[in-house]
Amino acid sequence: QPEELQTRIEAVRTELGDSLLILGHHYQQDEVIAHTDLRGDSYKLSEMAAASRTCRTIVFCGVHFMAETADILANRPDKLAERDGQRVTVLLPDMAAGCSMADMAAIKQVEAAWEDMSEVIDTERVIPVTYINSAASLKAFCGRHGGIVCTSSNAKAVLEWAYQRGDRVFFFPDQHLGRNTALSMGIGEDQMPVWDPYALELGGNTEAGLEKSKVILWKGHCSVHQMFRPEHVDGFRKQHPGIKILVHPECPREVNDIADVSGSTGKIIDTVRNSPAGTKWAIGTELHLVNRLKAEHPEQEIHFLSPVVCMCATMYRIDLPHLCWTLENLRDGAIVNKIEVDAEISKWSLVALERMLAVK
Ligand code: 13P
Ligand code: SF4
Repeated sequence: QPEELQTRIEAVRTELGDSLLILGHHYQQDEVIAHTDLRGDSYKLSEMAAASRTCRTIVFCGVHFMAETADILANRPDKLAERDGQRVTVLLPDMAAGCSMADMAAIKQVEAAWEDMSEVIDTERVIPVTYINSAASLKAFCGRHGGIVCTSSNAKAVLEWAYQRGDRVFFFPDQHLGRNTALSMGIGEDQMPVWDPYALELGGNTEAGLEKSKVILWKGHCSVHQMFRPEHVDGFRKQHPGIKILVHPECPREVNDIADVSGSTGKIIDTVRNSPAGTKWAIGTELHLVNRLKAEHPEQEIHFLSPVVCMCATMYRIDLPHLCWTLENLRDGAIVNKIEVDAEISKWSLVALERMLAVK
């Protein structure tokens, strides 16, 4: 029964007090969000993990790469020293809560691509940038090669940082965030070859194409955001004159280009919060967030941009039974679903994450 689970979860939260921090991403279902201490977009969540002081355990209601990032940031050397070497334990209530986009780039593929492209271009002058939606091993790759991590809220500032240090960017795993950001900086699509890890040679590119590139985009995408189509935008504009279109930059270019506002989940929420009563929106991002915005803002008219359901099935794996199970085990001294990044990978990922956190 949900009520019983809610009571049991709250009992553990009360018992563990400040030693427990429950973080939640905006795509989590309402009944999970209700039990979080803090919620945010990927950038805010990494800042929160980096700032954590009193907690001994972080239970991460989000997906695997977010929990890995929390482990790296909460256990960085200066934090460990402050806590006399005591690690913060990070738990992910369901280990199957991954991210299909993150799974589209494996470290072996990225290393092979890097080696292949070095036969055509000088990789000393290429800055690798990984979207935070990636395995820690890819962040470590960026740390080792003078690169950096970005989120959807700082991608432009991060690319500017990269172009101060190199001639080109190798951007993975989300081609859409990379393309939309580069376009907003005036880079032409003809300077953005796409690297297909399954193509036989040079990721499916020509030498000339790579030589004139400004950003080499990995052929990855979010299966949720790729569902939003330009015809959905046209349909809403026809049916609801005056409606504004608000999307996440993981949407394809054809949608992002014609939207009124594009931004991270945090920006999407702030945009709606700061709009006057009567504003009409069609929002292109994960369903649970859009439904929550609808419920929280009855003074505005909020629509979901797609006629079909676009929800993140892996975020949805975090539910009350998994959360309750994780917390009660923790209370009883049993650690389940611990996320602990390998020390060497953690060290180099931290280099790339700290570069990102320093970019303003
Ligand atoms: P945000 O950083 O905008 O919260 O995005 C996370 C994500 O996974 C979007 O699909
Ligand atoms: Fe990954 Fe897309 Fe889900 Fe975000 S919405 S966690 S990018 S699959």
